[in-house]
Amino acid sequence: SQNEFKSMLEAHALAANFYSHLLLNTVEGEEALQYLEKRGFTRERIENYGIGWSLHDREALSGLLKRKNFDMKEMERAGLCIMKDDGTGYFDRFRGRIMFPLRDDNGNIVAFSGRILHGSKQEAKYLNSPETPIFEKSKILYNFHNARLNVRKTGKVILFEGFMDTISADRAEVTNSVAVMGTSLSDTHLLKLKRIAKELIICCDGDDAGWEAAKRFSEMAMKKGMDVQIALLPGNMDPDDYITQYGGEAFREKVIGNPHSFMSFMMAYAKRSKNLSYENDVLQYIHEVLEELSLRSSPVERDLYIRQLSSETGISAEALQQQFIKMAGQQS
Ligand code: CTP
Ligand code: MN
Ligand code: MN
Ligand code: MN
Ligand code: MN
Repeated sequence: SQNEFKSMLEAHALAANFYSHLLLNTVEGEEALQYLEKRGFTRERIENYGIGWSLHDREALSGLLKRKNFDMKEMERAGLCIMKDDGTGYFDRFRGRIMFPLRDDNGNIVAFSGRILHGSKQEAKYLNSPETPIFEKSKILYNFHNARLNVRKTGKVILFEGFMDTISADRAEVTNSVAVMGTSLSDTHLLKLKRIAKELIICCDGDDAGWEAAKRFSEMAMKKGMDVQIALLPGNMDPDDYITQYGGEAFREKVIGNPHSFMSFMMAYAKRSKNLSYENDVLQYIHEVLEELSLRSSPVERDLYIRQLSSETGISAEALQQQFIKMAGQQS
């Protein structure tokens, strides 16, 4: 109901203020604050993004919500609290984590993602709010509200895998970025982006999961009719790692400023799992590239990439052209 919506939003705003205060002004938040500073977060950016800290205390937020007369059943449905096993009360969902508020398109805080301070095998690195009446994961993109204006201005939107990357991009003066939370991108997300930008630059992590995500995201976005390009990172770096190591200017110019077309990305993708000094790998590589090329209709692209394939493999462009025609014929 309207009332439930309203009080859930109020509770999230209150929680975010509480978490922020704990991070910035208390002894309990010091370690987390130092951690963030070491990762390049300035105080200003911490405040702008509303980042906070949740205490290890099991009932810090629940106690506060109760004192403020929030309906605790509702707070459980909002994902902030969890009922105790014996049903005698509620405890906090988020404890001992750096808190990142997640906002809807109007800038209201509707959920949180909490990061643990230290790596641990027992606990997931990030804990997110569950789906609630105010938080539908398939609709929310991190930073959408904030980036919208800059996206419209530039006509471009950059899509990252993680919200840490979006915050780092901001540090690199790239202000038209959003992030999915992990590796699920929905059609709803894409339609939202398409409404505000024609061009999409996908910039996923440089690890295996990131390459797979980049491929999946690009294919989905092209199906929606967006102009897609893919920005690649060296090694296993993610955008945040890259910016920390090489700086914002390098990120703007070499990564975001030099994205690949989908075809060029696919060639890099196909090459990743191969060693082109092996004959079999070369043949497989040629097969995969020609197959992908047969899905494009542009003769110019065809010519360009066949010549590139030729120079990479040492096979003549004529032979590749013949192979291509043969393959395309078999498909139809
Ligand atoms: N994620 C998640 N649960 C996890 C790991 C990741 O929900 N256990 C989501 C988070 O939303 C995160 C995104 O996936 O933002 C990307 O994951 P990852 O690349 O592992 O995180 P980073 O953004 O690189 O975070 P950090 O730099 O703090 O390690
Ligand atoms: Mn990742
Ligand atoms: Mn990452
Ligand atoms: Mn990272
Ligand atoms: Mn095949």
